[in-house]
Amino acid sequence: MIMKEQRIENFEKLGFGLFVHYGLYSLLEKGEWVYDQKPELRKEYSSLMNDFSAEKFDTDRLAQLAKKAGAKYIVLTLRHHDGFSLYDTKGLNCFDAPHSKAKRDIAKDFVESCNKYGIVPFFYHTTLDWYEESFHTDFKSYQKYLRKSIELLCTNYGKIGGFWFDGNWSKPDEDWEEDELYRLIRQYQPDAIIINNSGLHQRGKHGNEEIDSVTFERGRPEFHQNIGDGKYRAGEMCQTFNSHWGCASTDFSYKSVQTILRDLIECRRFSCNFLLNIGPLPDGSIRLIEQGMLEEIGNWIRIFGESIYDTAPCQIKCFEEDGFVLSKGDDYYLFVFDLWVNGDGNVSIGSGTYKEVRLQNISIDDYSIKWIDNGEQLKYSVIDNEIVVHATPFEYGSNYVVRVAKISKKEI
Ligand code: GLC
Repeated sequence: MIMKEQRIENFEKLGFGLFVHYGLYSLLEKGEWVYDQKPELRKEYSSLMNDFSAEKFDTDRLAQLAKKAGAKYIVLTLRHHDGFSLYDTKGLNCFDAPHSKAKRDIAKDFVESCNKYGIVPFFYHTTLDWYEESFHTDFKSYQKYLRKSIELLCTNYGKIGGFWFDGNWSKPDEDWEEDELYRLIRQYQPDAIIINNSGLHQRGKHGNEEIDSVTFERGRPEFHQNIGDGKYRAGEMCQTFNSHWGCASTDFSYKSVQTILRDLIECRRFSCNFLLNIGPLPDGSIRLIEQGMLEEIGNWIRIFGESIYDTAPCQIKCFEEDGFVLSKGDDYYLFVFDLWVNGDGNVSIGSGTYKEVRLQNISIDDYSIKWIDNGEQLKYSVIDNEIVVHATPFEYGSNYVVRVAKISKKEI
């Protein structure tokens, strides 16, 4: 088995994070790629700074909301592809929040609020830059500009959880001088996680050896830990509530709480972190539907949280469509999908139908198997070398989407 470096283990333990896309593009409410996708708006784009007040971008509330949702870290877009920085670039250019109507260093507030509420702050930083001239004309000097930007972030905000880079996929044949960039981070922030989003077309790929976690942007995670170079890497899948990352007011394609919960659970199946995105409104406040959904996810996590943090895949297998098993210490957690709701036959479909979940590769022993939500003891039988768990339906009045049972050996 390959060793996990401590910072990578710590990152994996966080399990669930909140992604926040906020910047000048939020003002146009047409997604974070609006500068690129709507050339007719480019001329006026930088003057959006005069309206960027971020008045309701309340970092304390953001950290509190993350906490309520059960997220342990927040990744904030401190600079996105449009080149506008939410942090003080200290004269690197004037295209930053302190020079906007907001007149403040949002990164500073962000880190302070995270620290206050026990949330780990992560910095999203673009590598692709539509605004910065040198990105298009002199790639080498652009790399210097990028490194100077990152050096500021490494040295001005105290300890941070990590960097989330994004954009190398835009020029796959260029020399991004990654070694130098990452050396800088290791020097100033030795415990910081380094992520560089491999994008929609290279999910699960890691590129540079310093990368600590691979990404599965809007995909399905899979086993990714052992790719043969001897380094254990974490994984993270980012997902957004609708079809954009930045605010898009006419995007109604919101996923359901059910879908999001399944995404979270599918990530944990592979020890992957789940990074769930919101795109605040122009003034920085959070769209009600996103707030509400986050709160519902938090409600699920309050009941079943012990099964998603700090648990790991194990040898016990069941049919993929039934669910899966994770372990923690001597205990196991059985995640069961697609149960019915119990109740009177005139109101509940499938009432009384339980599901048989066959567990393979489990030692035949005396187990206590209990639903976490109500402590109900589940019956099981031993057939050949398998244990068949009789998973009972949801109690009338509930439907947890995914239900989790704790399996412990009975004390003799
Ligand atoms: C993509 C997009 C970007 C978004 C990111 C989030 O790479 O370019 O807009 O920030 O995905 O994962």
